[in-house]
Amino acid sequence: MSTVWPTTFLDAERLGRPSRRAATAVLQAHLSVLKGDPLKLSLANALKEAEGLGGQERRFTALAVRELSRHLRLLDLAARTLGHAPGKIGLLEDLALVRYVLWRRLFCGEKWSRIGPEVKLPGPVRPRTIKDDLLIHMAEAPLPEPPLPESGPERLATRYSFPNWLVLRLAELHPEPVVEALLAALNEDPVLHFRARPSGTRAEVLAKLAEEEVVAEPVEVALDAVRIAEASHRVFETRVMKAGRLQVQDVGSQLIVEACRPLEGSLAGWTVADVCAGAGGKTLALADEVGAKGRVLAGDRSRRRLAQARERARELSLRHVAFPQPLPLEQADVVLVDAPCSGTGSLAREPDQKWKLTPKSVEEFHATQLGLLKELAGQVKPGALLVYATCSLLPEENDAVVREFLAEVPGFTVEPLAPLFGAERAAVLCDGPFLRALPPRVPGGGFFAARLRKG
Ligand SMILES: C[S@@+](CC[C@H](N)C(=O)[O-])C[C@H]1O[C@@H](n2cnc3c(N)ncnc32)[C@H](O)[C@@H]1O
Repeated sequence: MSTVWPTTFLDAERLGRPSRRAATAVLQAHLSVLKGDPLKLSLANALKEAEGLGGQERRFTALAVRELSRHLRLLDLAARTLGHAPGKIGLLEDLALVRYVLWRRLFCGEKWSRIGPEVKLPGPVRPRTIKDDLLIHMAEAPLPEPPLPESGPERLATRYSFPNWLVLRLAELHPEPVVEALLAALNEDPVLHFRARPSGTRAEVLAKLAEEEVVAEPVEVALDAVRIAEASHRVFETRVMKAGRLQVQDVGSQLIVEACRPLEGSLAGWTVADVCAGAGGKTLALADEVGAKGRVLAGDRSRRRLAQARERARELSLRHVAFPQPLPLEQADVVLVDAPCSGTGSLAREPDQKWKLTPKSVEEFHATQLGLLKELAGQVKPGALLVYATCSLLPEENDAVVREFLAEVPGFTVEPLAPLFGAERAAVLCDGPFLRALPPRVPGGGFFAARLRKG
């Protein structure tokens, strides 16, 4: 039986540089997450308040903040195994310190000699009631194997720190090795992926990156996707990047945009509506697809996010992206509904979300998604394509929404996605008529898409 405690440690290059100042920022951000703030905001605020952090210390801070949320359940089990049940630790500041020390031990392989200078008294967070002795115990005392079943959802949920209900649900859908690989992949800190622009020029963009000595490679499952091999952010300084030939975009998001293409030919000259455009990630990719002779009509319920989308389109001089209100959906050949969802496929990027989601919130997402599709269906013109997409792993938000939509709204049929991707990629990407991108087979997050044709 393998141990429940990690046996490999984070790669030093990806870790950045730990320091007392960085640890202080990590603890501040984790405290803010514990008080209910979103992780991204907590991290941004902690980095703003921390003075004089170098680039590598900032990298460490960002990673560590995500890691504390990501492995929270296992870290708390370690504390309990060492005689300090988190429920009995009164102060959030103390709890954050204990988790930090255990994370440095279990996931970075460090001993007190390295951890101590980062956290020992006085500080680094106040108030603090625990003495250094307790932290030394956390860092050094032998850690026995906790009593857990040898296999099954409870073990996986503990080992990979996910809520039981979510792992139980995933275990109903996939065999145990697939669930384990999925949970492990969702625990990997996400690597940045890029989209080569314009579409079809990936080989040229890779050659130009090589000229600038940036090691990059194609991600085969998506036509324009690129992965940069090194952890540094040097790519942002390259001429390729400055010329707008690369955009940061998840592999799954790129596949969803591809799912909007016609079976033959391209989207060039077409009108596409992006109903849930958010900050415009897919809007920009769609704008590239339709070209200057086409149009992208972008909308979103959130004015703030739509303002970001507008700004990004302006920066790239994409004049064929418009933001009419309300969206004239009857003009669109393709309507993309990138629906609000649980984000269970994106937990690698937002690990705090897994502790906020509940079966009830999934039910609520289901109702919102179905309601949104039904509301839009009447406005879509006959012959148009409605592409429904989520970054959820759960059929309640994917297959079930499509099934109920088809049962309740006459006139739509499902168009299989496999012919669009071709046999080789479809073998990895498609499940029945749908796109179902599941990490680690598909790098990055988990995504779903369905094509619905209005007759
Ligand atoms: C998954 S996010 C979209 C991400 C975006 N497409 C991208 O690629 O970055 C879902 C979006 O749906 C928006 N939304 C939620 N309910 C909506 C509604 N009834 N109508 C339009 N947008 C809605 C949210 O504000 C959110 O920005």
